[in-house]
Amino acid sequence: MKFDTPAGQNPIDQLKVVGKPLDRIDGKFKTTGTAPYAYERHDVAANQAYGYVLGAGIAKGRVRAIDVGAARRAPGVVAIVTTLDMPKLGLGRMNTANLFGGAEIQHYHQAIAVVVAETFEQARAAAFLLRVDYAPEAGRFDLAVEAKGAKPVSGDSGEGSSSGGEDRTGDFEGAYAAAPVKLDETYTTPDESHAMMEPHATVAAWEGDKLTLWTSNQMIAWAKGSVAKILGIPPENVRVDSPYVGGGFGGKLFVRADAIVAALAAKAAKRPVKVALTRPLVANNTTHRPATIQRVRIGATKDGAITAIAHESTSGNLPGGRPETAVDQTKLIYAGANRLTGMKIAHLDLPEGNAMRAPGEAPGMMALEIAMDEMAEALALDPIAFRVKNDTQVDPGHPERPFSHRDLIGCLKLGAERFGWDKRNPKPARVRDGRWLVGMGMAAGFRNNLLTKSGARVRLNADGIVTVETDMTDIGTGSYTIIAQTAAEMMGVPIDKVVVRLGDSDFPASAGSGGQWGANNATSGVYAACVKLRESVAQTLGFNSADARFSDGAVRSGNRSVPLGDAAKSGELVAEDTIEYGDLSKMKQQSTFAGHFVEVGVDVHTAEVRVRRMLAVCAAGRILNPKSARSQVIGAMTMGVGAALMEELAVDTKRGFFVNHDLAGYEVPVHADIPHQEVIFLDETDPMSSPMKAKGVGELGLCGVGASLANAVYNATGIRVRDYPITLDKLLDRMPDAA
Ligand code: MOS
Repeated sequence: MKFDTPAGQNPIDQLKVVGKPLDRIDGKFKTTGTAPYAYERHDVAANQAYGYVLGAGIAKGRVRAIDVGAARRAPGVVAIVTTLDMPKLGLGRMNTANLFGGAEIQHYHQAIAVVVAETFEQARAAAFLLRVDYAPEAGRFDLAVEAKGAKPVSGDSGEGSSSGGEDRTGDFEGAYAAAPVKLDETYTTPDESHAMMEPHATVAAWEGDKLTLWTSNQMIAWAKGSVAKILGIPPENVRVDSPYVGGGFGGKLFVRADAIVAALAAKAAKRPVKVALTRPLVANNTTHRPATIQRVRIGATKDGAITAIAHESTSGNLPGGRPETAVDQTKLIYAGANRLTGMKIAHLDLPEGNAMRAPGEAPGMMALEIAMDEMAEALALDPIAFRVKNDTQVDPGHPERPFSHRDLIGCLKLGAERFGWDKRNPKPARVRDGRWLVGMGMAAGFRNNLLTKSGARVRLNADGIVTVETDMTDIGTGSYTIIAQTAAEMMGVPIDKVVVRLGDSDFPASAGSGGQWGANNATSGVYAACVKLRESVAQTLGFNSADARFSDGAVRSGNRSVPLGDAAKSGELVAEDTIEYGDLSKMKQQSTFAGHFVEVGVDVHTAEVRVRRMLAVCAAGRILNPKSARSQVIGAMTMGVGAALMEELAVDTKRGFFVNHDLAGYEVPVHADIPHQEVIFLDETDPMSSPMKAKGVGELGLCGVGASLANAVYNATGIRVRDYPITLDKLLDRMPDAA
């Protein structure tokens, strides 16, 4: 189905099932431990052996030799594959660093060997008997140092956020020089780890030259193609299956070493092999969100109209790696005739920087939205009023291009009302509650909506059961449920008559999970397949498909009503289709908007920051399931608290690796850190986005949150921290008098 004109009235608008806050249909499996994750797929292949990955102990250089003798003689060892057994393997989609093969070491903990044994413990013990002879080389590991030689670069996040080395509208320098009120500040964000609950893991089995990988991956069709390319085998010989994913956050958009070494190990062992990356390998073997150094300049008239805005970001990566596209949103979010955005990249020999939830906008909004708060203060304007004044209904760089639908102002105003913003004292460090200095902060949230083609197959059997098959993944997001809701609405059946099967590359290729594009696109693919199935049902039952109505498990027209399942009496009906998009997103800018509000307490003696309450008001088109969407947003808000207050991969700038490579050293917020969160969705639809009229919320919930905390800490203490995370050492010696 081609979607190239705005959606009119369609069966989804009935909202009998779609739009309802239904529990996740997979929730009971996850909460009872019966949803099998990759490493637990004991039943899929007999006689599984365990692979243990050894990571390089240097950050740059070469492997001269690996002595496998002692490891091979160790108890239980079945096979050993080392990186010197083969030439450097090719890159898969979105990979920067090579995953295996050859002598070159590009980063610390690059996979250099896998030991296969009868038990995990035997494999691990034997891996430590490998003797590796390295020829180390000097590397570059310090962004602050390398930033000085950084070069302009254009780039794209792989998730729709993109920017040039330098993009201009009007005359930024002239307008900035002439502006009566201005700001010029630099903000930094650290390297961050996805730190998902389920590490990267794969069970691999060969049958002749056919390979099956039971793995944990967000993008099944990409994975299938990448595995084939890296291993040099035809894609039709690869099957990837990933029905449950214990979090990805962009770290599982692409194939990683677990999948490749599991395949190589299974070949060498001549039996199925399972491999999980250990927690330290998740930090240093896989990918991370790169640190940024961002300069923001804003010039405005005395009454607060922005006349000049510039946002420039520098990040580092391995040669060939992408920049963090932190300036992209600044092209679109606020008005202003004179604009400059730019990116630079520095060469670093740290592990690969790549997409992490809202790549680009997440760190970009952390800087921009502090700058907006600072600018509002300089103008003696309320920060909400300042943003409202500079709202735009068109792409400011291309004023002929409107937004499809934009209600940022609605989010900010409703948020202000619900949060009690009028009770905020605009003067910092004035509110005290016992030992706490209390402050409120807000920020705008912004993230684009992406359209990408998505396929599905639907089956109807004689019992009236509708089965949906698509390679779409559920990474903890609620895909199973919203897909079931879509099929139920379209076919006129209750949700318990729908079976959803996901994550198998034998199913039609979907949009996959990433870039907050999953929900809208994957359900639109299911919509398209259901339109075909409805036609086939109507035809089989002798209805005119134009006036056949599907409801309550029956098909009706005039006085005639036939049970839906009757259409499949003489054999299952199957329909398959793919939603594909025309130019609608080029004609109008599709984005999602939020207002993020937070209240913090800062301990007057220790400068410890505690979140007291949070609110997000989101405008993101039709909300397909308010319960799972809310869960997405509260998860994202929690991630925003981590980014603001605690998350930071500490770089050893001598040895070139992330030191705090486990969940003891890399701190993320837990329930106890988040006392009270609320999410409100504006009641809206966007007919430009898809037949579902929905957009994404999974990343919107993160973008802006960090800055709302920084702004709240400022309001509480009068201390402006521009260097994330806002740990107490950055506050302590500047705290107001405790007396
Ligand atoms: Mo993307 S970083 O997988 O949301």
